[in-house]
Amino acid sequence: MSGNSVMSINGTQTKYDREKELREFDNTKRGVKGLVDSGVKTIPKIFIRPLEEISEDSKPQNVNKLVLPIIDLAKIHTNNNPRRELVEQIENASAKWGFFQLINHGIPLNVIEKMLEMVKMFHEQDVEVKMKYYGRDVHTNKQVVYDSNFDLFTSKNAYWRDTLSVNTAFTGQLDPELLPPICRDAILDHIKHMVQLGSVLLELMSEALGLGPDYLKELECDKNWSSVYHYYPSCPQPELTIGTPKHTDSSFFTVLLQDQVGGLQIRLDDQWVDVHPIPGALVINIGDLLQMITNDKFISVLHRVKANPVGPRLSSAFFFAGLSSKPKKYGPITELLSEENPPIYREFTVGEYVTHFFSKPQDEPGRNHFMLN
Ligand code: OGA
Ligand code: NI
Repeated sequence: MSGNSVMSINGTQTKYDREKELREFDNTKRGVKGLVDSGVKTIPKIFIRPLEEISEDSKPQNVNKLVLPIIDLAKIHTNNNPRRELVEQIENASAKWGFFQLINHGIPLNVIEKMLEMVKMFHEQDVEVKMKYYGRDVHTNKQVVYDSNFDLFTSKNAYWRDTLSVNTAFTGQLDPELLPPICRDAILDHIKHMVQLGSVLLELMSEALGLGPDYLKELECDKNWSSVYHYYPSCPQPELTIGTPKHTDSSFFTVLLQDQVGGLQIRLDDQWVDVHPIPGALVINIGDLLQMITNDKFISVLHRVKANPVGPRLSSAFFFAGLSSKPKKYGPITELLSEENPPIYREFTVGEYVTHFFSKPQDEPGRNHFMLN
């Protein structure tokens, strides 16, 4: 199970040891990077994942050579036909893949490179400064948090990743003064670009659902976003752990930025399909909220990041959350329902959704809890 040999002999003792190890790791406030910096050659037990999880890998991979759709946003600026084609591509990718790569999205390559460089700078800065941001309060009203394994004490196994999170989901706002000075401007730049792009994507997705272009915006799907800036240190035993365990996103949709190291995979047709890095491209994926309100027309797909002997790998995810403390209700969009397509999910408040999403194990999609029957 946990790779701890004492486990089968004396469960209680092991549990105690594990909790102690978790606390010790947490107390360093140096994350996984701190372990690598200290020169570990074998990974601590808390990071060892079940063999069957990692060995899902050894099935014949990419037998069908699945390649994620690449969508060219430049078509949006052209006249009718290419735009229609673009909307169709987004519909197809969102319905069949839940993921696509976006090129010519208008964010220049140098801006993207700067953002990734900023992620690196935050995590590699003076550790005494970085520690001040360390906390266990993501998914609360704290706007800026650095941590490693937000679910460290509740998950079965830890993973090889540190994260800086910026969260407006509960306060509805961001005080720029709270951002770490070393990356403040770059984060503000990232947010500005993401919010602009998110609005364009929401329009296209609304059209892809056969709804008016403002439909999803009126549902406030781009309200109260949050963003994460991940740092995946090189791993001395990548075959024993994972960078990000498989999960679906809680968002309506997510805009992901990855560097060229690779390791991101999505689960389709019972196989792990690589999301190959394309310089300057963004990866867009549908989250559980959009799957639920589209009554499963768009799909929220499991994805993960492999641990890598090469590192660091840098990435950023921008979640269009719609999450707020307001008692706003969501449910399947009425226009998409019919006798043949009855609602699959019940109505729920955003608060109810968030509470559930962050209390369940990561590998279990958040939407199941809200299914009717
Ligand atoms: C996420 C995520 C993937 C990556 O943060 O939800 O899936 O490439 N990240 O870091
Ligand atoms: Ni994700």
